Amino acid sequence: MGSLEQALDEVRELLLSPGLIRAVASGQRRDGTPAVRTATLRPIEVKAGQRWQLVTDDGQRPTTVNLRPGDRAEIDKLLAEPFGSWVVETSHGTVRLQTTKKGAVMHRSGQVAAAQPTTHDRAKEHLLDPGDPLFDVIGGNAAKRRQVDAFLRQLPADLPPTLHVVDLGCGNAYLTFAAYRYLSSKGIDVRLTGIDLREDQRARNTEVAQRLGWADRVRFVAASIADAEVDRPDMVLALHACDTATDDALARAVQWQARWILAAPCCHKDVSRQLRRHQASLLTEHGILRERFADVLTDAVRGALLREEGYAVEVVEFIDSAHTPRNALIRAVQTGQSSPDPELSRLLQEWQVKPALATLLEAQR
Ligand SMILES: C[S@@+](CC[C@H](N)C(=O)[O-])C[C@H]1O[C@@H](n2cnc3c(N)ncnc32)[C@H](O)[C@@H]1O
Repeated sequence: MGSLEQALDEVRELLLSPGLIRAVASGQRRDGTPAVRTATLRPIEVKAGQRWQLVTDDGQRPTTVNLRPGDRAEIDKLLAEPFGSWVVETSHGTVRLQTTKKGAVMHRSGQVAAAQPTTHDRAKEHLLDPGDPLFDVIGGNAAKRRQVDAFLRQLPADLPPTLHVVDLGCGNAYLTFAAYRYLSSKGIDVRLTGIDLREDQRARNTEVAQRLGWADRVRFVAASIADAEVDRPDMVLALHACDTATDDALARAVQWQARWILAAPCCHKDVSRQLRRHQASLLTEHGILRERFADVLTDAVRGALLREEGYAVEVVEFIDSAHTPRNALIRAVQTGQSSPDPELSRLLQEWQVKPALATLLEAQR
């Protein structure tokens, strides 16, 4: 049992930290009734950049206001309300503060330490400092920043002095911009091209690149991965390109003969659908198991197909599953040595599936 004051100080640090995912205050203490029934705080992206969205509910209707990140005065007002409990989710884990007659009880799960790291320590924990002004411009919540940071850690250490990198299915381009910042900070003369189907993303990302003064080095194309016309890249990145868009990215990387490929797949619906159609098995009878099996089968097959195409391949966990369930990363480097695996055709035959990447590579040969 600790003092309520100390516990609220810890909650304050978490609410102000860049790792905040969501915080909910509710209930009441013996010494008073809060002005509202619940208060929920979470980082969001608006046009002007990142904000802390505060939604309060008085039992009649919710009220929403957007606070500037680090608005200590507003956070202090919230903490001064006599809420009975706080649940604070951060990228390190969850903290629950429960008030009792005698003081405060804190429960922690995940890796949230009693004393939060200082800003200086936090900077070391990340490849890119979360306080980097870049993030004020590109936005992205703490979870996305952590994903991007973890992804960048998987880049090869030994890179040439000039590099062209494409980010396929770049979406809001958090990875594209962060990769540019990181690689250029290592002294690499790097160009980034972000490709996404959506024209609105291209326009928004181009405007962000201009604001950052990077428009000559970071450019965006609205096109499908399969058809985008860009200079041949040395490295292909794809973070959570949906379903078979990851296959499009891998096939395009092979077509370009990119030296490095880093792809973190998203949902794997294609093979799961094929398994449901063709197979009755203990492994595929229950939806959840079929989906998990399809994940494993798809990425194992993708790895084997890339080996056939002359890549050395690893499939690794790039971030803890607490941060995203889509935490596998296919990391490939071109060796020029094709190594076909006889198990591949046996596996495809046995499960009667033909993953999209197999079809795409066949069409390219
Ligand atoms: C889940 S979002 C991921 C965005 C970004 N990589 C990230 O991690 O924040 C997937 C993105 O892929 C894009 N996409 C899906 N299929 C695509 C395709 N065939 N060609 C180009 N972009 C595609 C979508 O428009 C979407 O922006």
